[in-house]
This record gives sequence, C-alpha cells and structure tokens, in this order.
Amino acid sequence: MKKMLTIALLLAFTAGTAIAADTVVLTAKNGDVTFNHKVHSESMDCKVCHGDGKPGKVDLTKDTAHALCKDCHVKKAAGPTKCGECHKKK
Ligand code: HEC
Ligand code: HEC
Ligand code: HEC
Repeated sequence: MKKMLTIALLLAFTAGTAIAADTVVLTAKNGDVTFNHKVHSESMDCKVCHGDGKPGKVDLTKDTAHALCKDCHVKKAAGPTKCGECHKKK
C-alpha cells in the first residue's frame, strides 16, 4: 500500500514537471523578458530550442539567448527584434 502511494506521487510529480508554464519570465538586469512558451511551442518543433532529447531547462546567457531568440525573429521577420520590445523595465 505504501509502495503504491509512492508510485502515485512519483507519477504526479513527473507529469507536473513535464508541462511548461504558458509564459516564462526570463530575468535580465536591463528588464525582464516575458517569453510565451505556449505560442512558440505550438508553431515550431521543441528541438529548435531544446535540442535533441527530452525538453527541459534551457541555459540562456545574453549571447545564446540573442542568437536563439533574436536571430529567428530577424530571419522570419516576425517577433520582436528591438531591445525594448523584449526587455521590459518594471
Ligand atoms: C522558441 C523556443 C522554445 C520552443 C520551441 C520550446 N521551448 Fe520549452 N522552453 C523554452 C525556454 C526559453 C524555457 C525556459 C527555460 C528555463 O527557464 O530554463 C522552456 C522551458 C521548458 C520546460 C520547463 C523546464 C523546466 O525545468 O523549468 C519544458 C518541460 C519545456 N520547455 C518543454 C517544451 C516542449 C515539450 C516543447 C515542444 C512542444 C518546447 N518546450 C518548445 C524554449 C522553448
Ligand atoms: C525559430 C523561431 C523563433 C525562436 C527560436 C524564438 N521565437 Fe519568439 N517569435 C517567433 C515568431 C514567428 C513570433 C511571432 C508570433 C506571432 O506573432 O504570432 C515570435 C514572437 C515573439 C514575441 C512576441 C509575441 C509574444 O509571444 O508575446 C516575443 C516576446 C518573443 N517571440 C520572444 C522570444 C524569446 C525570448 C525567445 C527565446 C527564448 C524566442 N522568442 C525564440 C519565432 C521565434
Ligand atoms: C528577442 C528578444 C530579445 C531582444 C530583441 C533583445 N534581448 Fe537581450 N536578452 C534576451 C533574453 C531572453 C536574455 C536572457 C535572459 C536570461 O539570461 O534568462 C537577454 C539577455 C540580455 C542581457 C543580459 C542581462 C543579464 O542580466 O545578464 C543584456 C545586457 C541584454 N540582453 C541586452 C540587450 C540589448 C542591448 C538589446 C538590443 C540591442 C537586446 N538585449 C535585445 C532577449 C532579447
């Protein structure tokens, strides 16, 4: 009985962490960037940002974020490309 409960809790936990929030706030000292995960993950493959394997945490730095986010917006001529369109001061 105890074992069953542990498994149920484990399942609930892994199911919960597999779903990303609709919007993710990426903190930056020059203004936080609100990233709409739902909009992005509906219109493109997970792999584009998460690479091969199971999607999870993405380590973004200034350079990797700009290369990933900004370059795609420039290439597709869609989405923000100006500093203030992504970085919002509170
Ligand atoms: C345009 C880029 C992009 C696409 C496409 C994308 N993601 Fe993400 N995803 C992110 C970013 C950025 C984060 C937040 C990263 C962080 O805070 O570590 C994130 C976070 C996540 C997380 C939460 C990770 C954690 O531990 O907090 C999961 C799970 C996830 N994504 C799954 C998916 C799946 C599944 C798909 C495809 C349906 C997908 N993502 C498509 C960029 C993307
Ligand atoms: C492979 C292409 C691609 C990548 C990578 C990508 N985007 Fe976008 N993004 C788009 C497109 C296309 C739109 C326009 C969607 C629309 O208007 O329907 C967009 C729209 C946006 C918008 C404005 C609309 C909204 O969702 O509020 C923001 C902000 C944004 N992206 C932030 C980011 C950030 C931050 C990252 C990196 C973590 C990122 N994007 C990565 C393609 C991309
Ligand atoms: C498409 C959205 C987007 C645009 C446009 C953009 N940035 Fe960023 N920027 C990001 C993201 C996402 C991060 C990474 C946040 C993180 O580390 O989680 C970032 C990180 C940074 C950082 C590092 C902040 C810190 O706390 O370490 C600086 C500085 C910065 N950007 C400046 C700029 C400047 C200046 C411009 C205009 C020339 C610009 N950004 C345009 C999305 C954008």
